[in-house]
Amino acid sequence: MKNIGFVAFLFLILLSPHFLESRLQICKPSGKIKGKKPPPDHCNEDEDLLCCIEGKYYTTYKCSPAVSKRTKAILNLNSFEKGGDGYSPSKCDNKYHSDDTPVVTISTGWYNGGSRCLNNVTISGNGRSVIAMVVDECDSSVGCDADNDYLPPCGNNIVGASKAVWKGLGVPLEDWGELDVEWTDA
Ligand SMILES: *[C@@H]1O[C@H](CO)[C@@H](O)[C@H](O)[C@H]1NC(C)=O
Repeated sequence: MKNIGFVAFLFLILLSPHFLESRLQICKPSGKIKGKKPPPDHCNEDEDLLCCIEGKYYTTYKCSPAVSKRTKAILNLNSFEKGGDGYSPSKCDNKYHSDDTPVVTISTGWYNGGSRCLNNVTISGNGRSVIAMVVDECDSSVGCDADNDYLPPCGNNIVGASKAVWKGLGVPLEDWGELDVEWTDA
């Protein structure tokens, strides 16, 4: 086989970290956060699993996987209402949003400093598609502190969606929470 040298060369190029980073835009962690014990008034026992665990390390990211026409993401269930799990108003417009409207929060890299704010994205999953508006950042670069309600940093591939999005995708209520989806700019 004459071309073995060339094949080996290609193989090395493809596997070199530089190639992976520049071409496939591999998203590497930006750091780690060590979970602190939340004050007693935070994270009551029902919510314990959501809070950072004391001494556990959480990986942070300032990037998200590269955006394509069909970017894979994990869909989570979020509330954007006052008293919902965002606690504070959505970052894009400093407002609360009804969970009956299709709105989403997206991971830091995809939020991209707010460049997608109030733009729509198409989310496909469960054999259907829904158009939703980006209103917030699911911050993957910080967490486990008072500013973030002692919650872990977001994953770097999360679309946190209101009830309306889950309904629109036709996901049965008992399955709301986590779903593999694909999204694209609408
Ligand atoms: C996003 O979709 C909503 C609802 O369909 C629409 O009212 C709004 O104008 C759209 N926003 C943009 C930026 O296209």
